[in-house]
Amino acid sequence: MPDKVSEKTAERTAALDAILTRSPVIPVLVVEDAAHAVPLARALVAGGLSVLEITLRSNAALEAIKRIAAEVPDAVVGAGTVLNPAQFAAAQLAGARFVISPGATDALYFTAKDTGLPYLPAVATASEIMRAMEQGFTRAKFFPAESSGGVAALKSLSGPFPEMKFCPTGGITEANLRSYTVLPNVFAAGGSWLAPKDLLQKADWAGITALAKKAVSIAKGS
Ligand code: 3PG
Repeated sequence: MPDKVSEKTAERTAALDAILTRSPVIPVLVVEDAAHAVPLARALVAGGLSVLEITLRSNAALEAIKRIAAEVPDAVVGAGTVLNPAQFAAAQLAGARFVISPGATDALYFTAKDTGLPYLPAVATASEIMRAMEQGFTRAKFFPAESSGGVAALKSLSGPFPEMKFCPTGGITEANLRSYTVLPNVFAAGGSWLAPKDLLQKADWAGITALAKKAVSIAKGS
């Protein structure tokens, strides 16, 4: 009979998978102007990317999450760059459906378990993976992916950690995307290339939809 801890881990993993496997690529978004949030989200959804990470790196981030949650029902919006429990709580209040951090702390693991909001911690080493598993998390962002060993590191980590699945982020581009998404221990890849500053400034939503479509086709190898 499974013990309580592994039941909880399975529940948590299923909740996260239900969200994060909807798209093969998760755009990492820095929204400086809240007025961009809804058209940006619609443009990405139109291109086939419905899971959106709004990073808490701008003053407009929480308002952007609020607007997308209210006005773009086809998007699943989450908060990224969440560094502490206060930001976790603010993201949840704004309507974030999941939370991602660039690393992980005991306080964040505790808050995630306490609130039940799907949480994707980040890892870059074997010890950090062991810590995530100890906390009952078998899904993690692999960050910063390229500078932490990239595809070769993920292949090596699949040996000792067959139950772990990753979302590599950091240094992913159209050129190397497919080399990550073919890996069996990768459920999606993340990156900021889908919403470049110049396209945002020009409000070139069609351009962003085109980038999203291209990313989906590269990620799936189609
Ligand atoms: C992140 O927060 O996930 C990274 O800043 C994204 O990395 P990238 O800009 O190299 O895609």
